[in-house]
Amino acid sequence: PQPLSRVLVTGGAGFIGGALVRRLLVESSAMVFNLDKLSYASDLTSIGSNPRHQLLQVDLVDPEATMAAIKRADPDLVFHLAAESHVDRSISGPGAFIESNISGTFNLLQAVRAHWEQLPKERQEHFRFHHISTDEVFGSLGPTGCFSETTPYDPRSPYSASKAASDHLVSAWHHTYGLPVVLTNCSNNYGPWQFPEKLIPVVILKAVAGEPIPLYGDGANVRDWLYVEDHVEALLLAATRGRLGESYCVGGHGERSNKQVVQTICSLLDELRPQGAPHAGLITPVADRPGHDRRYAIDPTRISSELGWRPAHAFEQSLATTVNWYLDNLAWCEKVREQAGYRGNRLGII
Ligand code: NAD
Ligand code: DAU
Repeated sequence: PQPLSRVLVTGGAGFIGGALVRRLLVESSAMVFNLDKLSYASDLTSIGSNPRHQLLQVDLVDPEATMAAIKRADPDLVFHLAAESHVDRSISGPGAFIESNISGTFNLLQAVRAHWEQLPKERQEHFRFHHISTDEVFGSLGPTGCFSETTPYDPRSPYSASKAASDHLVSAWHHTYGLPVVLTNCSNNYGPWQFPEKLIPVVILKAVAGEPIPLYGDGANVRDWLYVEDHVEALLLAATRGRLGESYCVGGHGERSNKQVVQTICSLLDELRPQGAPHAGLITPVADRPGHDRRYAIDPTRISSELGWRPAHAFEQSLATTVNWYLDNLAWCEKVREQAGYRGNRLGII
């Protein structure tokens, strides 16, 4: 592959996009343009200031602003991560997911296509558009089996339906207009800097505050957990070496039930922050998420065999790293949750 020179990351002020931007700034000499509308889930603290990082504060729902941002960045590689990402929010307010994830992706594809079509031939040949998606587009598994690239789409939440729609748009732009695209569908990420509305940070912060830890339904739903740095590694490989028009499933063989995850965090906190009673006593079953997918699991054979990707982080070890990180960064959690205007509901820490 060509050395990276001008890279555009959408959603680079979010959790995974931020990890990708940091990695690009360290491991490449590329100019990194970060297109993000700066939503409640955004924070740029982890990126800091770097002359090779430029924020383009743009909402993808605005086609003209999106077009202008692509012209300004003049990229050779686009990673598209910007999206509304939280399933519970998609249930209470699906409209924003349709706008950002579907219309936003459409506007971006149109802008990127216009850009790509006018590139000189040698730049055109190396250009890539990498769409970052989720395993949730495949629906829900029974007790056995895994999702793979050939699993039929069967999204069940407004979030996953909007991501499925965006995947189809990206594939259509490849088949119809020849846009050189690669897609990845990844399982649940965890790690530092994740906005504290997702399961792992919610559990840590509730436990630290001595408040009830909400466990949806019977707690037996299974997710395939992947450390965010392993996801970033997969993104870099797929974007630069993946086959055009193909999708790659990314997952860490990290299947755990929610109950297991919550109990492991409580045990870690019993060691790190002993209090009178075990933290597990705070675990509180609450009403289930409507349409709650039962189990996700990924078969990563394609990305492993074609691109040599393997997760480098073991779940229990990196979960401990993550718990320690949150304990050391409670002030950051407080800041971002306040910025987001969280006032407290049954999902929140707050
Ligand atoms: P996040 O919510 O932490 O960050 C998303 C970022 O996108 C935010 O900074 C937000 O401001 C930006 N954004 C949203 N709508 C936008 C718009 N209309 N215009 C410009 N910017 C906009 O999300 P994340 O967890 O980092 O996920 C990133 C991507 O990876 C998403 O596409 C998500 O579907 C996908 N994904 C996430 C996971 C996971 O476990 N978190 C797993 C697989 C795939
Ligand atoms: O699978 C990939 C997806 O993982 C990504 O596409 C999404 O962007 C990301 O948000 C994540 O979706 P989930 O719904 O799986 O993540 P969440 O952290 O919201 O929930 C994980 C599991 O924990 C899920 O089964 C619901 C449950 N849960 C969640 C919260 C917030 C609880 O039991 N209690 C909670 O308080």
